[in-house]
Amino acid sequence: MSSISEKKAVFLGRLAIYPISGFLSRNPDPAILRSMEKKIFKQYPPPAGTVVERDDAALGSLDGKVVAVIGYGTMGRAHALNLRRSGVDVIVGARSGSDSGNKARLKGFNVLSVGEAVAAGDVVMLMLPDEAMAQVYTGDIAANLKPKATLGFAHGFAVAFDQVKPDPGRPCFLVAPKGQGDMLAVAHAAGSGVPGLLAVTKDSPDETWDLAASYALAVGCLVGGGFVTTFRAECVSDQFGEQVVLCGGVIELLKSAFEIMVEAGYDETNAYFECVHELKLITDLLHRHGIDGMRDRISGTAAYGGLTRGPRLIDDRVRGNMKRILEEIESGKFADEFLLHHRDTEKLAGTEADSPLARTGRIVLPRLHPDEPTD
Ligand SMILES: NC(=O)c1ccc[n+]([C@@H]2O[C@H](COP(=O)([O-])OP(=O)(O)OC[C@H]3O[C@@H](n4cnc5c(N)ncnc54)[C@H](OP(=O)(O)O)[C@@H]3O)[C@@H](O)[C@H]2O)c1
Repeated sequence: MSSISEKKAVFLGRLAIYPISGFLSRNPDPAILRSMEKKIFKQYPPPAGTVVERDDAALGSLDGKVVAVIGYGTMGRAHALNLRRSGVDVIVGARSGSDSGNKARLKGFNVLSVGEAVAAGDVVMLMLPDEAMAQVYTGDIAANLKPKATLGFAHGFAVAFDQVKPDPGRPCFLVAPKGQGDMLAVAHAAGSGVPGLLAVTKDSPDETWDLAASYALAVGCLVGGGFVTTFRAECVSDQFGEQVVLCGGVIELLKSAFEIMVEAGYDETNAYFECVHELKLITDLLHRHGIDGMRDRISGTAAYGGLTRGPRLIDDRVRGNMKRILEEIESGKFADEFLLHHRDTEKLAGTEADSPLARTGRIVLPRLHPDEPTD
């Protein structure tokens, strides 16, 4: 059996036309990757901190397997399209009368009922809303699984918080893209992808790790690396990031800053540019150059103002709130609340859509992005 570096040498030799490193490199040729051996890890389970590089992985573990993608929403669509582009045999499972199922049909997928797709799948990817996993798993999935089929997830929630309890010995992996679904589809179509987090349940056979890595390669989740983790760590860190930074903390910060400027008599458009629009410029710098690289590239005034005022804003009280939010996620309190109250999301989002900030966005954005279709 050849080592990872020997495989890499063969692979690099045969694909000399592709620049292999970096986020913009081309996705490797599926035909060549399929011929590469199946064993990707040196040790089972791979120790924490293991990173699978894209050019160390291969598609071999998916050979001859049918992947049933259950749910064709944002993430299911990205997985189905990317798997097909990688040469994997994909079918889609959708409930009867499903809008998204019809979209999958229009894209040329073989769309079956959820039960039929599960019964035909060697890998069954649960691309359902997290709040629907328990009901669909119990109703249509568990009883239809082939004895040796592997279950797959894009987020750790269902397994970490007991929404899906796979039978003992059932192979079960997580390939969590570090990116939104549409972005994953667009990146893969352009020959690239996003980083991914990989995990398998304790009860899974060793080869589930190789299948997870092959799957991650096929959907474009190894660009920048596939980082070994657990279902629980992925779920907790993902939800903490969403709540405290990405979808909660940052948004409230923007809204509050915008409202304070407007209340103080500043023009709404000006406040929008300063408090919302320019966020992208800073996050792009952070994304590309890191926190120190970002500071090097902004004005001295901005750097001094940020370094001295930021810590005043995010004080011990705010840090205390962050810790409590983390505890709520870890203890399952957030999971219980979400499962009970997820239907409130639409109402809460509706209130936000009426806010002065959202209204100003609807005035400013068509000027900045005239070609973007309105929602
Ligand atoms: N969205 C993202 O960018 C993202 C990022 C990371 C991880 N994830 C994870 O990916 C998974 C899927 O999330 P998503 O955002 O793609 O969900 P989504 O866009 O809401 O799509 C859900 C899909 O499930 C179907 N569905 C809903 N209820 C169903 C039921 N009772 N029976 C059968 N099918 C049902 C929907 O079909 P209909 O058309 O019939 O309603 C739709 O095709 C979740 O675990 C999520 O945490 C998502």
